[in-house]
Amino acid sequence: MATQVTVKSRAAVKHDVSPLITRDSFTTSLGVIAATLGSAVGLGNIWKFPFLTGVNGGASFIIVYLISTLLVGLPIMIAEIMLGRQARADAVTSLSKLAPGKPWWLVGAAGVISAFLILAFYTEVAAWVFAYIFKAALGGLLSTNPEVTGQAFNQLITDPWQSLLWQWLVLALISAIIILGVSKGIEQTTKRLMPLLFLLLVAIGVRSLTLPGAMEGLVFLFQPDFSKVTAAALLTAMGLAFFKLSIGMGAMMTYGSYFRDDQNIPATATKVMLADLTVSILAGIAIFPAVFAFGFEPDAGPSLLFITIPAVFAAMPLGHFFMVLFFILAAIAATGAMLSLLEVPVAFLNERLGLSRVMATLSTVALLALVGSTAALSNSLLADFKLFGMTMFDLYDFATSNILLPVGGLCLSLFVGWAWGFAEVKAALTNNGTLPNERLVRAVFGIIKFVTPVLVLIVLLNGLKIL
Ligand code: PHE
Repeated sequence: MATQVTVKSRAAVKHDVSPLITRDSFTTSLGVIAATLGSAVGLGNIWKFPFLTGVNGGASFIIVYLISTLLVGLPIMIAEIMLGRQARADAVTSLSKLAPGKPWWLVGAAGVISAFLILAFYTEVAAWVFAYIFKAALGGLLSTNPEVTGQAFNQLITDPWQSLLWQWLVLALISAIIILGVSKGIEQTTKRLMPLLFLLLVAIGVRSLTLPGAMEGLVFLFQPDFSKVTAAALLTAMGLAFFKLSIGMGAMMTYGSYFRDDQNIPATATKVMLADLTVSILAGIAIFPAVFAFGFEPDAGPSLLFITIPAVFAAMPLGHFFMVLFFILAAIAATGAMLSLLEVPVAFLNERLGLSRVMATLSTVALLALVGSTAALSNSLLADFKLFGMTMFDLYDFATSNILLPVGGLCLSLFVGWAWGFAEVKAALTNNGTLPNERLVRAVFGIIKFVTPVLVLIVLLNGLKIL
């Protein structure tokens, strides 16, 4: 009898494709959306989108960004989530499982490196945001003079210890959540934080819109001037679309591997894309009307959030209160995004190399503290250390957004469109024929196969002045 049982279970093991120990994953549909949206919504919306829109002339940039999102961003996002769910593994293993013996896994490996490089500078911007919550609360940023708020910002970023310590604090926070796991850490955290983020954003948007003179900011945001659309602006807009949707580097693939089997991937990705876009536009509405109402310039660049915005808040009624809210909001956004970034190397080390989740997290964060310090010190000790004319901070940002993510996305769209093929895509995106979305899947596949790679290639080569 006992032998029989053993034989039986061995046979069962052989035919069972799922691993013996069930992988942690997102538990509810709402959890899937919260986590995925948590990844997309981040400093990309609150910091990058406003300053890039400001520098690149407002509405026309938003239109180019929108087109990139629809023709490049959304299709790749759907593809990545699909590949992850199909393979149910980290980014490297997923691609080697789906294309055994072929070099496609290298795209996953490049993704792990991209995640790392993004985290290196992202954790520093997050560090400034967390520091600003306290500075704002203590009244240290309450000046309507951008020179004074500029001094406060400079004091923070040129102080090596403050830069490092805040970054380490951020690293400690996200690693604690990641160690808790996919469902108990990532899902639970983002499910609580995302609604709060929307609430804060709407509150601040209403405050900004009800200021006298707010109209000018809206005109800037919504009235296009196409003379500002250059090749460099196109690349920036596309890079932003990649960055914003967390695609081209395996984050969406890793999260896809935690998606439920019955999750409608195209619908979920579209919802996330729309919600992410809404947050970006709302952030623009929270910022630009106020910027114009108080006579500031919209094109301050990366320091818009840290120098102009405090001065703007200081000038408005109830500004102190709203300033603190604003930086809490930015910190929440940054946290959800960093979780998805950190999950990429952690899942890789855990599943591919067999480290425990705790060890995987701790070793990633330790290495990150080291590499990240070169970004953290880019305004102090390493200010003069430049490669390709950029500080390490700028280099990580430029190399990931404008090169690594687009190239990763290009490879993924080529893989899905030309190597994996329509039959597999159809089965995966219709949930094996249970969803009535075949027409849509056909359209997505056509775009992924013919439109996305061509667009990415042209914009990439043009933007890098290779064409
Ligand atoms: N989408 C995030 C943001 O907007 C950044 C990010 C990029 C997260 C790549 C994961 C992967 O801030």
